[in-house]
Amino acid sequence: MPSRDRHHRRPIIAANWKMHKTGADAGAFFAELIQALGNEPRHFAVVAPPFTAIAAAVEAARDLPDFAIAGQNCDWRASGAFTGEVSAPMLAAAGCGYVIIGHSERRQFFGETDESVNRRIRAALDAGLVALVCVGETLAEREAGQTEAVLTRQFERGFHGFSSEEMLHCVLAYEPVWAIGTGRTATPEMAQQAHAVLRGLAHQLGGGEVAHHLRILYGGSVKPDNLTGLLAQPDIDGGLVGGASLDANTFAKLLRS
Ligand code: PGA
Repeated sequence: MPSRDRHHRRPIIAANWKMHKTGADAGAFFAELIQALGNEPRHFAVVAPPFTAIAAAVEAARDLPDFAIAGQNCDWRASGAFTGEVSAPMLAAAGCGYVIIGHSERRQFFGETDESVNRRIRAALDAGLVALVCVGETLAEREAGQTEAVLTRQFERGFHGFSSEEMLHCVLAYEPVWAIGTGRTATPEMAQQAHAVLRGLAHQLGGGEVAHHLRILYGGSVKPDNLTGLLAQPDIDGGLVGGASLDANTFAKLLRS
């Protein structure tokens, strides 16, 4: 169980189900998870199902304390003729407390840019959601020595125009693209280095209080056997987990790491 003295930044373990699980699957997952968790202490949990399973997940997680349901994306407009899109107020009305913004799969496959990330964060905060904002470099960028420059660009453009108060309603996730779904995790030291850069940027843009309170999750092949080492780093405040979050017992283990 979490024993670190980091009361000002309680870790969050967030499950990103991506395009997996129906509403019925979500119900079964939560039944199993509730069994596995019992009353033992654990980290704060976020689960991001596909849109069609949000209602079932909200219902199933209703009595779980320290638990939030998230959307995996939201449009920056509240409503309108935008076929296929879902807005932040719609997610809030469906019972979500969080929304993932700017995941690298959105950036890579769906044309997401730093500018659209910025607009989506604004929409999320306006709707009262916590924005879980993802940043991270590709393998080519890392090998070209551009990691810090990429993180700086994504952070500065993503949070452009936000006040410190608003930044406190965000959670950041560092997800090196080369570590996502590849089984290739960043070492705790590599991740810590990037997290320290991001905390420095939070200080520059938002000031000391934001730097102190902003939770920065690590994502990319997080598993029960590597999470403890990651959480031991001073600037790593949780995990954003894809593959390993699909199994309720594994997710329960992560929540207790
Ligand atoms: P992974 O995905 O844990 O399967 O690597 C992480 C993510 O994309 O958020």
